[in-house]
Amino acid sequence: MSRRILLIIGGGIAAYKSLELIRLLKKRGVAVTPLLTKAGEEFVTPMSVSALAGEKAHDDLFSLTDETQMGHIELSRAADMIVVAPATADLMAKAACGMANDLASTVLLATDKPVLMAPAMNVRMWNHPATRRNHARLLEDGVRFIGPEEGEMACGEYGPGRMAEPETIAAEILDLLEAGRIMDVSALPEGPLSGRKVVITAGPTHEPIDPVRYIANRSSGKQGYALAEAARDMGARVILVSGPVNQPIPEGVEVIPVESAREMLEKVKAEMPADIAIFAAAVADWRVKTAASEKIKKGGKGAPVLELAQNPDILAKIAKMKKDRPAIVAGFAAETENLIANAKKKLAAKGADLIAANDVSPGTGVFGGDDTTLHLVTRDGVEDLPPMSKREAARALMERLAAMLPAGEWV
Ligand code: CTP
Repeated sequence: MSRRILLIIGGGIAAYKSLELIRLLKKRGVAVTPLLTKAGEEFVTPMSVSALAGEKAHDDLFSLTDETQMGHIELSRAADMIVVAPATADLMAKAACGMANDLASTVLLATDKPVLMAPAMNVRMWNHPATRRNHARLLEDGVRFIGPEEGEMACGEYGPGRMAEPETIAAEILDLLEAGRIMDVSALPEGPLSGRKVVITAGPTHEPIDPVRYIANRSSGKQGYALAEAARDMGARVILVSGPVNQPIPEGVEVIPVESAREMLEKVKAEMPADIAIFAAAVADWRVKTAASEKIKKGGKGAPVLELAQNPDILAKIAKMKKDRPAIVAGFAAETENLIANAKKKLAAKGADLIAANDVSPGTGVFGGDDTTLHLVTRDGVEDLPPMSKREAARALMERLAAMLPAGEWV
């Protein structure tokens, strides 16, 4: 995998930290193309930036030679992602409005690559309604954020506004690059789901008891991961919100790792709207009401009693969303008796469009195994699929869901 970022350095006192960021990234094998705004140049010099990056520091939109050798489109095309650090209030405002009056803002408008911003500004600027609006707008546009952190600032005030530390930003960049969470949408195959966004949950959830113990189940994540691959092969942009599993990260799929049910719900919600949402995770129905902040020790008052609380039903919450509900919502029903009747009940109670019911009675080997027998239950009836591998079942289910998509409605 190529690992190159385009680093936009805005004009803030935190710009000096971007030098350390370049050093850390280079040390970890990530190439950095630096780009300084005019204001950024007031804080760090193009000379020191390019010496550390080992590359030319770009800075002028109207440089004729740059445009012929490496234009603003080419700059973003050559990188796996764009990082803005420090992201000033001004840069955020420009990006939120789609302005393009210098090289940095033009690149941000012209890119289809993932963008990560590390804001740095005075706490009042960060809290100002205009910046709140811009932040919300950028999140909506799919921009990722790291920080700002809370603390003492160069201006002597205290609060959120300090840029995240270079180590933290570098770790996030590596995580995004390595976890396959960053991908080139243009590299996806053409297919019936081209241009569509599919969100899938997979695996178990871990519900903490204390810092070292948790409640979990035996879900392997196989079915959810197979669905993600099937959707990708049909051309979809796939977001896989996955509990802790031992599955390899599928290429071309954006994996968002989570642990608990509540975390899974938050991440799924943050990905809405989507064209199709499939809930294949074996979400723990219960969590410990108040997880202990320290490891629970033996001795003293005998065995501890764990008070449980019910977890949110992620499928039902998404299916019942008033705004941004995916066009198609599908889930699974693992049953040991009254398979179809129970699946029909789940379809209605949760507000889903399709429930894939499977018999998990002891001896079927479905849970954790490679094969499955699905019965696709919709409001129109039941389709029984023959026994097949989870991979084949994933393909069959994705084809069925793609056919259910209303034509012409895109996220
Ligand atoms: N689901 C979910 N969030 C939960 C529980 C379940 O998203 N908190 C989803 C699962 O991913 C699956 C479907 O809902 O798609 C399963 O529903 P569930 O009611 O848990 O059924 P079973 O697992 O079959 O268990 P039970 O019959 O005991 O309710």
